[in-house]
Amino acid sequence: MQSIREVPQLTAALIALRAGGKSLALVPTMGALHAGHMSLIEEARRKADRVVASIFVNPLQFGENEDLDRYPRQEAKDGVMLEEAGCDLLWLPAAADIYPPGFATTISVKGLSDRWEGEARPGHFDGVATVVAKLLCAIRPDIALFGEKDFQQLAVIRRMAQDLQLGVEVLGVETVRDEDGLALSSRNAYLSADERTRAVELPGALNEAAERILAGTPVAEALQEAKNRLSAAGFSRIDYVALVNAMTLEPLDRPVGPMRLIAAAVIGTTRLIDNIAVGV
Ligand code: PAJ
Repeated sequence: MQSIREVPQLTAALIALRAGGKSLALVPTMGALHAGHMSLIEEARRKADRVVASIFVNPLQFGENEDLDRYPRQEAKDGVMLEEAGCDLLWLPAAADIYPPGFATTISVKGLSDRWEGEARPGHFDGVATVVAKLLCAIRPDIALFGEKDFQQLAVIRRMAQDLQLGVEVLGVETVRDEDGLALSSRNAYLSADERTRAVELPGALNEAAERILAGTPVAEALQEAKNRLSAAGFSRIDYVALVNAMTLEPLDRPVGPMRLIAAAVIGTTRLIDNIAVGV
């Protein structure tokens, strides 16, 4: 696997990777890689001839009081994991290559970005959409893979790629979980042992709410029970627990169409998000 920082080297390496008409997949990440990221790489290998990963902790998508400074960084270990997973090229751009002096463009996906994570983290999805558009323009992949773990992010990126006609197919990959059900996340590294034990109530509450909704419990009641369960487990703030239309992310007050249960809550100093499909 080649690891590249500079843009001229990247351009040359991409031409070589593409030689003979090979197809290219991109897996954008912020590093601190875990088995969830690796499943994106594996799926990318199944779907394309060549796989490029990027690691860039994107300052634009972090709010002022968020964890940009303490976000885990483990570049050497990430490189080994990617190499072992069969990734062909790792791009580690410098901030100045992504955002050159005077950079003034923001990509904003209206509607899909407004609620949930968008409301709790103002500007977050503008930062995500802008950096992903820049990464896609730099790499020009045939496909790009993103996790369902960040369900709203996936919807925002799909819309952006379609609206800008970037000629890339955006693929979603199922969430990888620890044995007890907690979704893998780079931010799980912030959890103390005790918080880690209690964090499992987040997928627990979502699964229970999904079962109750499918069994006929009124949606508002099932969501309130889920929130109560999170509070009882010691989550100090619940940003939302909602049943939404899986395509539009608009809230649903009764079970209809393709549905998703989504949640965000804080335990200790760590904000966790999760989501599951409801029904088939
Ligand atoms: P990051 O949090 O590093 O995640 C990179 C990719 O891995 C995202 O598509 C995310 O949804 C996926 N992912 C994370 N945890 C996962 C899990 N448990 N199972 C499956 N996939 C998982 O998301 C970002 O970075 C950034 O916002 C980015 C898209 C790179 C733009 O900066």
